[in-house]
Amino acid sequence: MIPPELVILRELLEHEPAFVSGNVLAGKLGMSRVGVWMHMGKLRDQGFEFEAVRSRGYRVVRWPASLNPLLVQAHLKPPTRQLDILCLPEVDSTNDEAERQLASGRATPFVVLARRQTLGRGRLGRVWHSADNGNLYMSFVFRPHLEPGRMQPFTLWMGANLCELVANFCHLEPGIKWPNDLYFEGRKLGGMLTEARIDSDQIRDLVFGLGLNVNSPLAALPAELARQATTLADCTGHPLDLNRLTAAIIGRVLSAYERFIEDGYRDTFADLWNRFDLLRGRPVTLVQGSRRITGVAGGIDDEGSLLIRGENGRPQRFHAGEVTLEKS
Ligand code: BTN
Repeated sequence: MIPPELVILRELLEHEPAFVSGNVLAGKLGMSRVGVWMHMGKLRDQGFEFEAVRSRGYRVVRWPASLNPLLVQAHLKPPTRQLDILCLPEVDSTNDEAERQLASGRATPFVVLARRQTLGRGRLGRVWHSADNGNLYMSFVFRPHLEPGRMQPFTLWMGANLCELVANFCHLEPGIKWPNDLYFEGRKLGGMLTEARIDSDQIRDLVFGLGLNVNSPLAALPAELARQATTLADCTGHPLDLNRLTAAIIGRVLSAYERFIEDGYRDTFADLWNRFDLLRGRPVTLVQGSRRITGVAGGIDDEGSLLIRGENGRPQRFHAGEVTLEKS
């Protein structure tokens, strides 16, 4: 059953900024206007504020600024409307919670959101600072049944899609640093962490984690991070609607996943990647264990491997490693 609060929010959102009459809401819910009023009270407790005008009805005058699962769900458009979303006030890591949910039999796809992580993880075992301060911590969970070899470009494809979504949503041009970092003007905006379980030559479970700096004040970040990081609010000069952004990301990740699985992504991948690629044509150093490779980045190949042209001018391919940009 769809929760009555969700029905109310969908109706109010659809007609915003117009009023929706109490009779219409009561009709949608199959209950009395007193019943509607009671459910609106539950929304008020979550930070929604309504304006009620006799003979016109209701509209929302204040939306909760922090992550609100009902509001995220209300913003979702078909076909993701019925998506299973788990939203927690606090968790160790949304990727770890995703694994636990999978182990206890939760059906895929589903999304785990948290307002705060106590053990947020980045690539190479790094800590992902995850305070409850208006940023996004989310994990998408799928069962793709694909050969592991097909998965190599997955994070890159997702990153390019997320860049395009952020570009459209915020009217700014972010960039992606191979293989998993989102940047704006030299500062880190977010990161992706894809983890998979493989079962007899097939990917069984796939967890795609995304951490995105949205509304946190930069001053709230540890000093070391604040020097290298940025937030969407800082880049645009105004706070973002976190719940609407979350729903837009969910919609985009799910459609990008479908295109990846159907193998339809190859038509647009190169163009999308080239638009947002931060490394192409720039001097880089790649560190792979004790190996250091220097050269000029030359984009990626079809499999998502990074191409680096060394002094001999021939491109070499790398499918893993840590890249730093050198001064040109
Ligand atoms: C990186 O830049 O190294 C990747 C950072 C990924 C962070 C996200 S936050 C949500 C999900 N849960 C985690 O513990 N990590 C990812």
